[in-house]
Amino acid sequence: IEKVFGNKFDWYSSREKSTVKRIVYKHEADVFKPGKQEELFDWMKKEKAMDSEQMKFEKAREAKVKEIEEILQAYLPKKEGFQKIIMEAMEYSLMAGGKRIRPMLMQEMYHLFGGKEKLIYPFMAAIEMIHTYSLVHDDLPAIDNDDYRRGRKTTHVVYGEDMGILAGDALLNYAFETAFRAFVMDPEESLTIGRALTVLGEKAGIYGMIGGQVIDVKETGHEVSKEILDTIYELKTAALIEASMMIGAILGGASEEEVRMVEQIARNVGVAFQIQDDILDVTSTSEVLGKPVHSDEKNEKTTYVTLMGIEEAGRAVEELSEEAISLLHQLPEENHFLEQLLCQLIHRDR
Ligand code: IPE
Ligand code: IPE
Ligand code: MG
Ligand code: MG
Ligand code: MG
Repeated sequence: IEKVFGNKFDWYSSREKSTVKRIVYKHEADVFKPGKQEELFDWMKKEKAMDSEQMKFEKAREAKVKEIEEILQAYLPKKEGFQKIIMEAMEYSLMAGGKRIRPMLMQEMYHLFGGKEKLIYPFMAAIEMIHTYSLVHDDLPAIDNDDYRRGRKTTHVVYGEDMGILAGDALLNYAFETAFRAFVMDPEESLTIGRALTVLGEKAGIYGMIGGQVIDVKETGHEVSKEILDTIYELKTAALIEASMMIGAILGGASEEEVRMVEQIARNVGVAFQIQDDILDVTSTSEVLGKPVHSDEKNEKTTYVTLMGIEEAGRAVEELSEEAISLLHQLPEENHFLEQLLCQLIHRDR
């Protein structure tokens, strides 16, 4: 770097320095050749533009997470009555701070199809409640037996196993109580709301997430074929992501055919998401993830990582995500944020 820049390098800010370093490493062979300096400065400008693009995206994402959390908070039940403890346990698990990917994908799809109303809010809250219940139950001693979730002790550790089970049940039921509120908000849209509810129920149930968890539990402790593993991922993880994106599309006014396409996009995103979760389970730390690492090894799970190794698994994440993005381009409208979000998920670190 000094060869190229001399002592001028000292003038750069630390952010600029790391950009320069990145470029020099990327184009290592070239930048030292005579006449390549101009090109180097062009690359720098581009990378700088990319950096600020990335920063804009992060800011937008933060704002969206904040909005989602306000919606969740608004739909939580009041903590009252002799059963108050269950409302506390629901809030404890729901407001612990996850990535909020599902409500975010739902809202972005809704916007992509032109949706502008608050009708999507109860469904955004509902999908995050269902997802959170799936995590509370997934961590139970009888299933994955994990003690941490979203950076804090998991629900059954704090409230006891009995209340952990009931908090999961409560979140699942309350998700539907919440989604049903859409009928009162916009009675004229009842048929569309009914279609959205049908998807929510099906994708959360025995043909969706629960079905996937059942096969996951049943196929523990022994080698599993890729076919079965793909089915597990499609159901336990992709189904709720399909529900998120499909419901956004349905309420936004998408046609049946468009909803099918959205389902396909979401299946790719969902399977990629689970493979990345498996990768992080072996490559990350519990501090970054907010949940234990090596949970899959402890539970003798077959994963993409055990089946084909980390590198192959990483390539599968990229391929599935790229396919999802190219399908996204075939939809009638564009949503730049959504595309950035899908790109970001490929290399997510938590
Ligand atoms: C974790 O989901 C469980 C999987 C389906 C892989 P997330 O990674 O979305 O968890 P949170 O919501 O951010 O905590
Ligand atoms: C679970 O997959 C997916 C659910 C439906 C909860 P994992 O068991 O890999 O999820 P984590 O790693 O505990 O979040
Ligand atoms: Mg599990
Ligand atoms: Mg688990
Ligand atoms: Mg996992």
